[in-house]
Amino acid sequence: MEKNYKRHLVTAALPYANGAVHIGHLAGVYIPADIYVRYLRMRGQDVKFICGSDEHGVPITIKAKQQGLTPQEVVDKYHMIIKDSFERLGISFDIYSRTSSKIHHKTASEFFRKLYLDGKFIEKESEQYYDEEAKQFLADRYIVGTCPKCGAENAYGDQCEKCGSTLSPTELINPRSALSGNTPIMKKTSHWYLPLDQYEEWLREWILEGHKEWKSNVYGQCKSWLDGGLQPRAVSRDLDWGVPVPIEGAEGKVLYVWFDAPIGYISNTIELLPNDWEKWWKSDDTKMVHFIGKDNIVFHCIVFPAMLKAYGDGYILPENVPANEFLNLEGNKISTSRNWAVWLHEYLEEFPGQEDVLRYVLCANAPETKDNDFTWKDFQTRNNSELVAIFGNFVNRAVVLTHKYFAGEVPADIKSEPIDREVLDQIPVIKAAIEESLETFRFREALKEAMNLARLGNKYLTETEPWKIAKTDMERVASIMNVSLQICANLAIAFEPFLPHTTHKLAYMLNMKNRNWEDFGCDIILQPGHIINEARLLFDKIEDSAVEAQVAKLEATRSQNETALAPASEIEATDSQPSIVPQKDECTYDEFMKMDIRTATVLEAERVPKTDKLLKLTIDTGIDIRTIVSGIAEYYSPEVMVGKKICILANLAPRKIKGIESKGMILMAKEESGNMRIVTPGESIANGATIS
Ligand code: 2FM
Ligand code: ZN
Repeated sequence: MEKNYKRHLVTAALPYANGAVHIGHLAGVYIPADIYVRYLRMRGQDVKFICGSDEHGVPITIKAKQQGLTPQEVVDKYHMIIKDSFERLGISFDIYSRTSSKIHHKTASEFFRKLYLDGKFIEKESEQYYDEEAKQFLADRYIVGTCPKCGAENAYGDQCEKCGSTLSPTELINPRSALSGNTPIMKKTSHWYLPLDQYEEWLREWILEGHKEWKSNVYGQCKSWLDGGLQPRAVSRDLDWGVPVPIEGAEGKVLYVWFDAPIGYISNTIELLPNDWEKWWKSDDTKMVHFIGKDNIVFHCIVFPAMLKAYGDGYILPENVPANEFLNLEGNKISTSRNWAVWLHEYLEEFPGQEDVLRYVLCANAPETKDNDFTWKDFQTRNNSELVAIFGNFVNRAVVLTHKYFAGEVPADIKSEPIDREVLDQIPVIKAAIEESLETFRFREALKEAMNLARLGNKYLTETEPWKIAKTDMERVASIMNVSLQICANLAIAFEPFLPHTTHKLAYMLNMKNRNWEDFGCDIILQPGHIINEARLLFDKIEDSAVEAQVAKLEATRSQNETALAPASEIEATDSQPSIVPQKDECTYDEFMKMDIRTATVLEAERVPKTDKLLKLTIDTGIDIRTIVSGIAEYYSPEVMVGKKICILANLAPRKIKGIESKGMILMAKEESGNMRIVTPGESIANGATIS
């Protein structure tokens, strides 16, 4: 290993507690981070692995509005789901806490206050977007519009998820409120800014000169940020959910979520180690590594380091920030809002005991240097042809044959042949390759090397054929089984970072009490005479029916989404020119005239309980007052709907939706991207006016 650090502080991006964790998060951040940490622990290093839920910011309040819950209820719900599913997958955090905790509020407040008192902020009044209808400033994700960098629709006020650019609301083209869909007005407000421009030279030196070894995607993004010139960044927001700005006269303002969230790494360390957290954060003997997805690069490489630098007091900076690219699913971009995802908590229910299969596939296919695709077919093939057919098959043969010929006792290597030496000599070579890859954050390659060890064992048994030799030469069989069992023991060490559930089972089977990385590569890990346990299958075959069920589940999602999702590769090319749904088949004039389309006004609106998408609306149609149930809750909150002028299809046959009789349909304009807006007739038209 490089410089001799005394300790390793490893952080994994704090996931927003506005939804569950999916395979994209796992492949991008948590599986690589866990492999790295487990490896360091195996090497006897002093490591702390820090994570927790990111519970502030607009992603949370938007979800709360959508679900008719309070922000606290939202974060309580998802924090538990996320924490539990990480644990079951074997992500071995030393602490998984949350940013709504008292300790975090205190830490983040104090951090801000010190910077404020030290004069590190600029206070500035500016005009910001404001939604007059919702009576709210439109920070971050409350404002959407067209990305000025890549042309994607629905970029947020702080970031375009499509191209990863960090934005400010005023850069958006055609901005509109995510709360009401209205075009916002500008209104004066004052905020505190971190003058990133003052740190630009220092950051250039630190990253561009000092960290040329960073992954090219990370280094490249930093360089383009720095070359573009840094601007002061607001670190407070006009919101009612978050850490209150700890200054007199700042009522109604909270810390920007991207200011408080990274401080969460510090708060969580304090919670874990109240007495000696400082040596983890303020000593050059600590190596800090941030595992993140590519959309978090600027915050971890530029903003947070500038915050730490501004704070001073000996805070260390990350030694590396190995960000991954994105994982797609069956050719389409993973999308939480469209439910186009494989959710970890659902996977764990549907594939009990197969945690490591997911870990294996997501690592083998991790988007380390470019976006990658997860398919269920590949998942099945990797399990059946690699884990079952190579790793599982080799171990099973070695253990079963040892029981058959030697009653479960490791035989002595009494009749060695050159092939044995050749095989044993390969193990330290593989070990060195795994180490080299893990230490440079090339996890796919490391896993491939580990699988080569299983391949080596499988090939060795196939070539030496002890079951044939057993008829004539038990001394030679003893040597073959000895070598095979040593390979098994090496596998139990080599795979620990990658497949901890499996290596646990394997270590039990081999009756190995201790597994040390130092033993990896040794000729003799299991001493002759050592008794092993009965064979148990390490992996189960995954049947066609299991993956077909998953594909069918995705197909159902696809049809629920109504419009087909654009293939990931096409999104890049077509987003700036939204595609248009083809014209429907002709209808006659008489058919059209059968439709009674009218203007109306929404009198009352409420969410339909236990649904995410439905609103129950009381409508004045000019003819009567009636109820319409509409699937618009994703786009409009009940408060915003009240008083809205709308157009309805009045004579649509009544139908019951969630037990409520709905009479009519609200007319919506829908882009192929899925974005929907109410068709509105203008304020001055009376209710009941017919549209034709
Ligand atoms: O992108 C996200 O999901 C953020 N919640 C990550 C925050 S990482 C850290 F700074 F806390
Ligand atoms: Zn963009």
